[in-house]
Amino acid sequence: MQEYIQKVKDIITSKDKQSMAYVQTFGCQLNFSEGEKIKGLLAQMGYGLTDIPDNADIIIFNTCAVRENAEDRVFGQIGAIKRFKRTNPNLIVGISGCMAQEKHICDKVKKSYPYVDIVFGTSAMDKFPKLLLNVLNGQKHAFDITEYGDIIDESFNQVRDSKIFASVPIMYGCNNFCTYCIVPYVRGRERSRKSKTIINEVTQLVYNGYKEIMLLGQNVNSYGNDLEDEISFPELLRSINAIEGDFIIRFMSSHPKDATPELIDTIFECDKVGKHLHLPVQCGSNSILQAMNRRYTIEKYLEIIDYARSKCEDFSFTTDIIIGFPNETDADFQSTVDLIKRVKYDNIYSFIYSKRSGTKASLIDDKVSDETKGRRMREFLAVQRDITDKSYKRFIGRTMRVLVSGESKTKGVLTGKSSEYIIVEFIGDSSLIGKFVNVKITQSRNWSVFGELI
Ligand code: SAH
Ligand code: SF4
Ligand code: F3S
Repeated sequence: MQEYIQKVKDIITSKDKQSMAYVQTFGCQLNFSEGEKIKGLLAQMGYGLTDIPDNADIIIFNTCAVRENAEDRVFGQIGAIKRFKRTNPNLIVGISGCMAQEKHICDKVKKSYPYVDIVFGTSAMDKFPKLLLNVLNGQKHAFDITEYGDIIDESFNQVRDSKIFASVPIMYGCNNFCTYCIVPYVRGRERSRKSKTIINEVTQLVYNGYKEIMLLGQNVNSYGNDLEDEISFPELLRSINAIEGDFIIRFMSSHPKDATPELIDTIFECDKVGKHLHLPVQCGSNSILQAMNRRYTIEKYLEIIDYARSKCEDFSFTTDIIIGFPNETDADFQSTVDLIKRVKYDNIYSFIYSKRSGTKASLIDDKVSDETKGRRMREFLAVQRDITDKSYKRFIGRTMRVLVSGESKTKGVLTGKSSEYIIVEFIGDSSLIGKFVNVKITQSRNWSVFGELI
């Protein structure tokens, strides 16, 4: 890879004008982390980075394939830059990420968006410099969506978007094959990074002033299972907690089938770990859970919830829900509504089921209309809104420790997140951004709480 980086750099730096690169990432935090690595490569190859696509010499769309609307947005963007290509024929356009790993998408790109020069899948990031060199040397289409190897490339430099928040992937891929989900097909099997490498990276980040470390994996609870003599996820959390410095540790996602009381104990034991757990349940019906191949029952799921709540009665949970899995009945939907009323999540990321070609669920003949799914979604959102409105009131009168992330839309108001992952707003000076402060909560608002700085 280094050889090609140097060759591209020789070409780019020999130009009279600084060449600029624009990278737009879609999808999850893992993809954003990889977008930062793509920026790192571009910077190494001599490009300047810009947030404005209009004056870029290279544009990379780092894509997500998880739902159809994610893909539609990407195609919308690729369509929209056609006019840039007209005004700047030397503009290079590339597609990376999860969509690039799908064959039918690559075929569609070749056919309908012939001005796309480069495509590299999530398993071919190291090929990017070579593909770019080929295009700079006149090749028309440089596409590479190699199959997965099991080696993790640790050699990428990352240009991080934030100086406060850092994402740290601890593993790549997924072994779970939930029947609705494309991720295992575009990301390959689970590959854990060595704990030593992760701990070194976090130590360095904390030394460099980062205040929030987000550990990422599709199922962090199975961390290390693919490596010999590797520590478990709770042990990894404890090791990172022991790193000196004032910072907060978060992680996602936890698959409920592998979430254990030890994980909950570890969250309570470790002072730097945020007191919050994102535990995607997907739905409240056991028969749908089985059809989704989630490999837990609602009863098992609730055992973990109840265990955490026995230690802290209002422990903060968030979750993901899919509404409208094929042939979901009114009774199934009702079980989901009952579940969220029982658990009282502080936030829910809810999605209408999206058919993904190549997955098992895509073969099911779905009898439920889009209209019914839409109605269920609206009802679901109204119930959750009511739960959040009521449950956020519990914070009034409490003092929360907040990592200040930026200014809110209202002038003079700062925003940040508490240990429980609740959005907290307060009046304060922008010099507090990036610092931990204590805020006494006076009001609960829509999906946030408001308070006074102390
Ligand atoms: N590995 C994580 C989730 C990654 S995808 C986990 O298992 O929790 C993030 C969320 O997208 C999922 O939790 C699910 O709720 C949603 N999702 C995935 N595939 C989907 C599909 N085909 N349609 C709708 N939502 C989907
Ligand atoms: Fe998809 Fe399931 Fe893997 Fe999450 S655990 S990425 S939902 S297959
Ligand atoms: Fe993430 Fe979307 Fe890929 S959710 S793993 S970017 S399909």
